[in-house]
Amino acid sequence: MTENIILDINDLHVNYYTYAGVVHALNGISLKISRGETIGLVGETGCGKSTLGHAVAGLLPNNAKIIKGSIVLDGEELVGKTPEEMRLIRRDKLAYIFQNPAAALNPVMKVGDQIAEAIIVREGTSKDEAKTRAIELLTKLGIPEAEKFYNNYPHELSGGMRQRVMIAIALAKNPVLVIADEPTSNLDVTIQAQILELMQHLKQQFNQTTILITHDLGVVAQTCDRVAIMYAGTIVEVGDVHEIFKNPLHPYTRGLLRVVRFNETRSKLPTIPGSVPNLINPPSGCIFNPRCQETKPICKEVRPEMIEVRKNHFVACHLYSSV
Ligand SMILES: Nc1ncnc2c1ncn2[C@@H]1O[C@H](COP(=O)(O)OP(=O)(O)OP(=O)(O)O)[C@@H](O)[C@H]1O
Ligand SMILES: [Mg+2]
Repeated sequence: MTENIILDINDLHVNYYTYAGVVHALNGISLKISRGETIGLVGETGCGKSTLGHAVAGLLPNNAKIIKGSIVLDGEELVGKTPEEMRLIRRDKLAYIFQNPAAALNPVMKVGDQIAEAIIVREGTSKDEAKTRAIELLTKLGIPEAEKFYNNYPHELSGGMRQRVMIAIALAKNPVLVIADEPTSNLDVTIQAQILELMQHLKQQFNQTTILITHDLGVVAQTCDRVAIMYAGTIVEVGDVHEIFKNPLHPYTRGLLRVVRFNETRSKLPTIPGSVPNLINPPSGCIFNPRCQETKPICKEVRPEMIEVRKNHFVACHLYSSV
C-alpha cells in the first residue's frame, strides 16, 4: 500500500507447542497500521494480544512458531528473520513497553544512564550530549527536577515513575513503532491516569505510532484512534474508536461494551455468557459461534471473512455478509 503503512500484518498464524497439544494462538490475523496512529488491541485474557505483540517484536518463546503469514515493518519482512536480525530490528526500530517495568530495567544502572544509553546506541552521540538529551526528555515527560531524577536507581522509584522511565527509553530510541503491552495494569488508578495522559502526549507531541495492548475499553476510548477487537486468536472487528463505540457490529464487541457500560453505572458486573474456547481444539466455522446468541447454521461451518460494512469499519461476522 502506501509508504504511510508502518506495519502490515497479513494472515498471521502462530502456534505454541505444549505437552497438552498444539495451541492455535493466532488464527489468521491481518492488520495495517499507519504512521502516527495509536491502535488499541483489546480482548479477554488468553485471546492472543501479547502473542501478536511478541510475534511482531521477535520475542516469541522457543515453543512458539509462526506457521503462516507475513509481518512487514517499515517495508521490511520480519517473518523468517534470524534471532540476531530481530535483535537489531528491536534495537533500531521497535520499542516494547512491558507490563512490569521493574523486570525490564537494569537494577544496577542509574535510570538516566539507561535512557542516555538508548540515545547513544541510536545516534552515536557522546556521553555528555546523551545525558543532556536524556534530561531534556525527562523534563518533556513532565518529571520535575529531571537532573536529580537522572541519578536514581530503579528500586528508588515508584511503579509509575519506572513506567515513565520505560516510556522515556522507548522515545529515546525514536522507534518506528512502540508496542505497549498493558503498560498501566500494574499501577494504581491515579498513576494509571497519569501514564495514559503521557501516552496521549506521545501521540500529540511526537507523532509516535503505537500499538496499545489492553483489556480495558475505557483506556482505548481515552487514548486510541482505532481499535481492533480480538477473540480467540482472531480479529473480529476493527475501526475508528468513536465509530466502534457508537456502532458496535460484532456480537462479541457488543457484549464487551455492555460490560463496560454496566461497570460505569456500578451495577453488578455482567459477563458475556460462556468462556473462551480451547485453542488446542478450536470450534469450526466462526470461532465465536458457541458463545454467540445470534448464531445461524452457516456460523458453525464457514469462517466469516473480514468485510468493510461501513467506511473503515470492518467486521468478521455472518450477520453482515450477503449470504
Ligand atoms: N509460552 C506459551 N506456551 C504455551 N501456550 C502459551 C504460551 N504463551 C501463551 N500461550 C497461550 O496462547 C494463547 C494466547 O495467549 P496470550 O498471552 O497471547 O494472550 P493475551 O491476550 O495476551 O492474554 P492476557 O490478557 O492474559 O495477557 C493462550 O491460550 C495462552 O494460554
Ligand atoms: Mg498478554
